[in-house]
Amino acid sequence: MIQARGITRTYQTHGSFTGDRTVRALRGVDFTLPDGGAVSFIGESGCGKTTLGKILTGLETFDGGELVVDGVELSKLRPRQREKYFRRIQMIHQDPYSALNPTRTVEATLGDPLRMRAREKAAAGEQAGSWRERAAELLTLVGLEPTAVLPKYPHQLSGGQRQRVVIARALTVDPTVLIADEAVSMIDVSMRLGILSLLRDLRARLGISLVFITHDVATARYVGDGGELHVIYRGEVVERGLTDEVILSPVHPYTQCLLSAVPVMRGLEEPGPDRTAPTAALDERTPTPGCLFQPRCPFAGAQCAEKHPVLVPFGLDAAGQGEAAAAEDGSGHVHACFYPESRRVVGVEVGAASA
Ligand SMILES: Nc1ncnc2c1ncn2[C@@H]1O[C@H](COP(=O)(O)OP(=O)(O)OP(=O)(O)O)[C@@H](O)[C@H]1O
Ligand code: SF4
Ligand SMILES: [Mg+2]
Repeated sequence: MIQARGITRTYQTHGSFTGDRTVRALRGVDFTLPDGGAVSFIGESGCGKTTLGKILTGLETFDGGELVVDGVELSKLRPRQREKYFRRIQMIHQDPYSALNPTRTVEATLGDPLRMRAREKAAAGEQAGSWRERAAELLTLVGLEPTAVLPKYPHQLSGGQRQRVVIARALTVDPTVLIADEAVSMIDVSMRLGILSLLRDLRARLGISLVFITHDVATARYVGDGGELHVIYRGEVVERGLTDEVILSPVHPYTQCLLSAVPVMRGLEEPGPDRTAPTAALDERTPTPGCLFQPRCPFAGAQCAEKHPVLVPFGLDAAGQGEAAAAEDGSGHVHACFYPESRRVVGVEVGAASA
């Protein structure tokens, strides 16, 4: 299980044109990923999704908050001990081509980590087996024909096959968590569904937990089904709840704008009746003391420019009054908005709108 509490990451950048800048990539992100569970993060470009993924795999540091893996707070560990935890959390990046060494065959790509894993297992007194057999097993698991792909170089494979090899390589270390960061966005559309199905399948068959990072609502809905969806705006989670609930009944105006931008499938569905759009373009440079979304929010009210809303259960007002739709353990549908309202913005099936 992974528990992230108040994860914060700030970058100081220096550019000859842009001058000195402070970028708050993550502002106090909390989430819990149960064993075998799924959690998705969705938000527009630059909202902090990849930074979060990298922090979870130890590729990036954070400057505030706690990361607890299987009950152990990682910052309390020595780097070598911490490394052991991070190795069980593997990331699948957006671009499968740059993720693979172009001069190495699939056999070499899988061989090194598998031999290392076999040595580790032998040292721990576990049965290791042959690395070649394991390579064939993993390639079959990810939907590839071992004898056909083992001698090939990355350029001899399609984008979808390359991403399957990347997933097989991630599986060589027997991970407990996979982090998929826009894992299909650079793959030909015809092969995307296969990769998404594979990720779902791995969760079901191997019990691997999944952190699914995307800007695409449809893929979050498909892969993150049954898990929680977190909507991030400028490094801050502004709405969280069960994936279907957030998509079908979003209550935060930013989520509603994000979902309204999803194209509908003409003939099969109609746009939701409450579609809306931001009133302005994103401007990260102007300070916003109140709600971060206020300069663009179509529903901003009197207090939005001055006060910063925090996450509260839907159904409770800022003073904690009302009937909450959240469970006592903090799960449930929560939002950071002074004027939340459930709106229907995703596609409605043709014929179902009036039902
Ligand atoms: N190493 C870095 N140095 C400075 N700024 C950074 C660095 N890494 C990320 N940032 C900034 O942090 C913010 C979040 O970046 P991040 O890559 O996490 O966004 P993202 O949600 O993954 O975006 P995209 O959808 O385009 O991949 C951005 O403003 C980015 O410019
Ligand atoms: S708090 Fe105000 S500005 Fe922010 S999302 Fe809600 S209505 Fe819009
Ligand atoms: Mg990214």
